[in-house]
Amino acid sequence: MLREMMVTGMLLSLCHGCVGVDQPQASTSYTMDHHSHAKPAQVCVVHMDLDIGLDFKAHKIEGTVTLSFERHDVQAPLILDVNGLEINSVTGADGRPRPFDLESGNDLLGDALRIKLDDQDSQVTVGYATRPEAAALQWLEPEQTAGNSPFLYTQGQAILTRTWIPLQDSPGVRMTFDARIRAPAELEVVMAAEQLGPDPEDSRVRLFRMPQAIPSYLVALACGELTFREISPRCGVWAAPTIAEAAAAEFEDMDDMLRACETLFGPYRWGRYDLLILPAAFPFGGMENPRLTFATPTIIAGDKSLVALVAHELAHSWSGNLVTNATWSDFWLNEGFTVYLEQRIMEAVFGEERARMETLIGMQTLDEELPRLSKELRKLHPDLRGRDPDDNMTAVPYDKGAALLRTIEAAVGRPAFDSFLQGWFADHSFRSATTAEFLSYLRKHLLTEGGEIDLVEWIEGTSIPADAHRPSSQAFEAVDAQQSAWRAGIAARDLETHGWVTHQWLHFLNHMPDKLESSQIEELDQTFDLTRSRNSEILAAWLRLCVRHGHRAADSRLEEFLLEVGRRKFLEPLYREMAKTPDGRERALSIYSRARPRYHAITQRSLDQTLKSP
Ligand code: BES
Ligand code: ZN
Repeated sequence: MLREMMVTGMLLSLCHGCVGVDQPQASTSYTMDHHSHAKPAQVCVVHMDLDIGLDFKAHKIEGTVTLSFERHDVQAPLILDVNGLEINSVTGADGRPRPFDLESGNDLLGDALRIKLDDQDSQVTVGYATRPEAAALQWLEPEQTAGNSPFLYTQGQAILTRTWIPLQDSPGVRMTFDARIRAPAELEVVMAAEQLGPDPEDSRVRLFRMPQAIPSYLVALACGELTFREISPRCGVWAAPTIAEAAAAEFEDMDDMLRACETLFGPYRWGRYDLLILPAAFPFGGMENPRLTFATPTIIAGDKSLVALVAHELAHSWSGNLVTNATWSDFWLNEGFTVYLEQRIMEAVFGEERARMETLIGMQTLDEELPRLSKELRKLHPDLRGRDPDDNMTAVPYDKGAALLRTIEAAVGRPAFDSFLQGWFADHSFRSATTAEFLSYLRKHLLTEGGEIDLVEWIEGTSIPADAHRPSSQAFEAVDAQQSAWRAGIAARDLETHGWVTHQWLHFLNHMPDKLESSQIEELDQTFDLTRSRNSEILAAWLRLCVRHGHRAADSRLEEFLLEVGRRKFLEPLYREMAKTPDGRERALSIYSRARPRYHAITQRSLDQTLKSP
């Protein structure tokens, strides 16, 4: 897919990768990605052949990556991002070495691998190895899995792919790939790609192919004891054998969700859609790796109450994977859109009330989190120069972003907004987009009259605009009424909680008064058996209340949870709450010292911050 573009007076043909995203030094007509050393406007990678082996003993990946590229400036070197990799060799297609040097950067961005190309070069092969501490990789011991085998998975977003593959690690660059992965014969290997099966010549080598051009942060792999359960001809679940049945039952609506998406947003462009249930150490709820969403096992509640997460990752097949944020400052284009789409899927598959409750929970998270954030991180389009893009994984890109889209929808009406969305996806498929591009597309195709929505305030402002669309929910009003009754002295066992769904319990727990007597907390626990809840969201919200109000009877459940689960969204509020008192802080540090080695590097980084000496 070649397009033409004028750059500094020269007519250049641009590959599917470099959609105008480049470094500060390049022509000012390019958007800058401050989180990559690559200069795709000069040389742009379009395909990768990955040939690697997984060494579970040494916690090491070793092999080669062959990168094919298009050259827009024949004088320029190929510059790759690498972070903590051992570079062993760089050769051309002729097998002879090419000169290279590693320009050292910083811990955040890593180094620039600069390769001097021969005139005829259109590909190079880099021989490399990872270090045991590579941040994208989590190597798990058998006892950290639901089975008896070790496990490895990768997490690329935002700028971690460069810790396991040397490449142009920028969301503005897209490439296709082929992969050969050598792994122990008894373990399954999966990738976010087409599975081509074992190499006929060596069954330990598994083959994969990704025919759609994707940004580097979506390259993903996992290896461990896994089994597959089909849900429909194009959907299924990979999970440890012990939880495979439960997972298949929990996510049996996947295909319905996929069909709802196609009706709403246009064709699904990726072939299959499968889900991979990872060990509990996974730092996120889910990660939208194309064709194969990676997910935490904590969403298996037994009653489908937490499947919105699958709707979310599935929606990224449009917002994020098909149309990608050009830089990490445009992250809300990925996440805000996806939260909006997720709510639309939930409405289509599970009804309006369910969608309204989930939207309101998001808005409440935003209201709670906003005061803790710096001014810059309250903006939808923040300046992230010199910062880890991960710092911007807050409710702002997610829920403020989604609120902007709901507010526009409410202003123009659903039919107009839906056709606008379909147009946006169709016109930007397999490309990256900036916030400025979105705004001008919006003004051109939808808000042609100007209208009442102050887009600049939404994007650059540091609060939630007063016109932000907030749904109302009868189901939550019923909860509020019961809570008032309880506060007024009605016994918990006499409250009308029969038939409450998970979201109502969350609303109930998240709206407790600041002061509670210990007898009140005990009453709640005795009546509703909350400490033994098997729903991870309810349990996390409850444990936080227990910490806040000194309900020590939940201590052992809390400790168990902190040692088992690595999902940052649950851990961070719990440790933060514990650290508020000297006693609690001591307990938090003692548990953390044991739990930390089991957490992913991303979770470790956040919690080190949360628990650092005041
Ligand atoms: N893409 C994100 C996860 C992510 C963001 C990883 C930034 C690394 C850097 C994923 O789609 C996501 O948003 N996950 C959420 C779940 C969702 C339902 C809000 C999560 O993990 O909590
Ligand atoms: Zn997301």
